[in-house]
Amino acid sequence: MKIKKAIIPAAGLGTRFLPATKAMPKEMLPIVDRPTIEYIVKEAVDSGIEDIIIVTGKGKRAIEDHFDYSFELEENLKRKGKYDLLDEIHKSSNVDIHYIRQKEAKGLGHAIWSARKFIGNEPFAVLLGDDIIKNETPCLRQLMDRFDEVEQSVIGVQQVPESETHRYGVISPLTEENKLYQVERFVEKPPQGTAPSNLAIIGRYLLTPQIFDFLAEQQIGAGGEIQLTDAIEKLNKVQKVYAYEFEGKRYDVGEKFDFIKTTVEFALQRDDLRDQLMDYLVELHQKDYRL
Ligand code: UTP
Repeated sequence: MKIKKAIIPAAGLGTRFLPATKAMPKEMLPIVDRPTIEYIVKEAVDSGIEDIIIVTGKGKRAIEDHFDYSFELEENLKRKGKYDLLDEIHKSSNVDIHYIRQKEAKGLGHAIWSARKFIGNEPFAVLLGDDIIKNETPCLRQLMDRFDEVEQSVIGVQQVPESETHRYGVISPLTEENKLYQVERFVEKPPQGTAPSNLAIIGRYLLTPQIFDFLAEQQIGAGGEIQLTDAIEKLNKVQKVYAYEFEGKRYDVGEKFDFIKTTVEFALQRDDLRDQLMDYLVELHQKDYRL
């Protein structure tokens, strides 16, 4: 069965980015001149997704307006002959995007549950709004190719340093074939030193609709939130859930330092910014800027 729908949860409180996220979702924070969520939407579209539902909370308007047609802005750009900017804004308004509101930020599992009526009874994708993954074959496409082979849920994983496993959902792998793992257990945020492996769940999921059965009865888990990983662990007991170690560089833009690194790297990849930024970085390096 073909995967056509994707959920992008973007209703978290973004506390690591306060006060910037007090009135604006962190998914709207720009990487150079493009909001983070636009990179995520592009990955979904490039992977062949036809319908996207964004789960929003506070700051709903900013996300909706971003992907909407803006008559006033377009007329203004046309009058000024700024056709390159017109092309840029069209890139973000050509997909079929729907919105649903998560009334309370009760966790990722609850955000996915909120979108159940839009998904219905078919397998679907989840892309977290704060992980950008760069690769020639989009990360989600890689997972969809594996899904075509196994026709069961496939969760994106990558290796992380052992000292960081307590921040993630982590898998306990059983067998591996071409980076596709059968999984014994999925554990959310294992206490430091107890993680069953260093293979961490990284913001991309393909799930069968049976996950909703487990999200429906889901209790509060790690961090006082309704955890998606806990529901996946239960699903894996009745229906195989695979993990796939995808290729690509991942940028965790929900973390402050990673956000800054992402901005610098993405700017260095741009012809209009590379040289001046490089000169500036060299200049900073030569000075003792901490004084
Ligand atoms: P995070 O835990 O990274 O987001 O959730 P957060 O809670 O907003 O961030 P901090 O830790 O307070 O800084 C991962 C993804 O799940 C969404 C977030 O928007 C993010 O894209 N999410 C999380 C929801 O949609 N609803 C929730 O209740 C929680």
